[in-house]
Amino acid sequence: KDLAPIKDVYQDDFLIGNVASTSDLGGVRLDLLKHHHNVITAENAMKPDATQPTKGNFTWSDNLVDGALAQGLSVHGHVLVWHQQTPAWMNTSDGVPLGREEALGNLRTHIKTVVEHYGDRVISWDVVNEAMNDNPSNPSNWKAALRKSAWYNAIGEDYVEQAFLAAREVLDAHPEWDIKLYYNDYNDDNQNKAQAIYSMVKELNDKYAQTHPGKLLVDGIGMQAHYSVNTNPNNVKLSLEKFISLGVEVSVTELDIQAGSDSQLTEKQAIAQGYLYAQLFQLYQEHADHIARVTFWGLNDATSWRSESNPLLFDKDLQAKPAYYGVVDPD
Ligand code: XIL
Repeated sequence: KDLAPIKDVYQDDFLIGNVASTSDLGGVRLDLLKHHHNVITAENAMKPDATQPTKGNFTWSDNLVDGALAQGLSVHGHVLVWHQQTPAWMNTSDGVPLGREEALGNLRTHIKTVVEHYGDRVISWDVVNEAMNDNPSNPSNWKAALRKSAWYNAIGEDYVEQAFLAAREVLDAHPEWDIKLYYNDYNDDNQNKAQAIYSMVKELNDKYAQTHPGKLLVDGIGMQAHYSVNTNPNNVKLSLEKFISLGVEVSVTELDIQAGSDSQLTEKQAIAQGYLYAQLFQLYQEHADHIARVTFWGLNDATSWRSESNPLLFDKDLQAKPAYYGVVDPD
């Protein structure tokens, strides 16, 4: 491939990532993956339902993790606690929430076992994913803005803090590891949601610092960045700057931009999409000191989770779209 590697364009700024499964670790997809990226996220393989489908029976993605590392790709861990792709046994029984102690035990055991197992083969973990409602009306009251998920119903409003404490315990026992703990969420351009996330992370970190001076409980905030051509980049800027003001690092964790429909993209739509990618990367570059990683959620449109809306940089034939040129030459 003669195309400029995205990872080289941003080598002084942040890591460039994409999703990968073991089937991407060979052939032309591996070529594309390695040419442009230096870090991967498992699209599904490290989620709770894949990792501990039944209590105490862990299924590891060592082939994917070690395979990526052998190719010189770093690995980001996704995800420990979520309301989706999570086996019911962890927090409910016959549709009824488990009692707090039992659910908390399941949460802590899952987190501690998984973080310990992968160790410093990963650079960071999404500890909690998507805990907030989409457009909370009173965002400063973040507890009221928490999604009423099965984890919330079983454990209560401190489940996010408990999850980070469990992960932090493992890291404290391994001071030689350098692993960042992230809170990750979507609709990150919505200012009410961004405010709720800000308020939560601020309170959790302020509280933790009282007993652990100078230490963070939550190291980073992941902006999933599942956008569309109608997303206003100024809202992305406001959210990004708000998160950075907390003194945490930020990563863009699942970037894609929907454009067109029915797997069709007009030239005009393709250019609008490329322009928004360029605007975003200008913004990311301006804040590169605080951004650790920018990860795309898919290699090409045909294999995207939102394939009908053509959200990625490469088309079904793995050809570069205007979106690719917007990313590598944003100015
Ligand atoms: C998606 C995957 O891309 C799909 O393959 C799967 O069917 C559903 O999950 N937010 C997340 C990701 O944090 O894990 C989701 O990934 C997309 C939304």
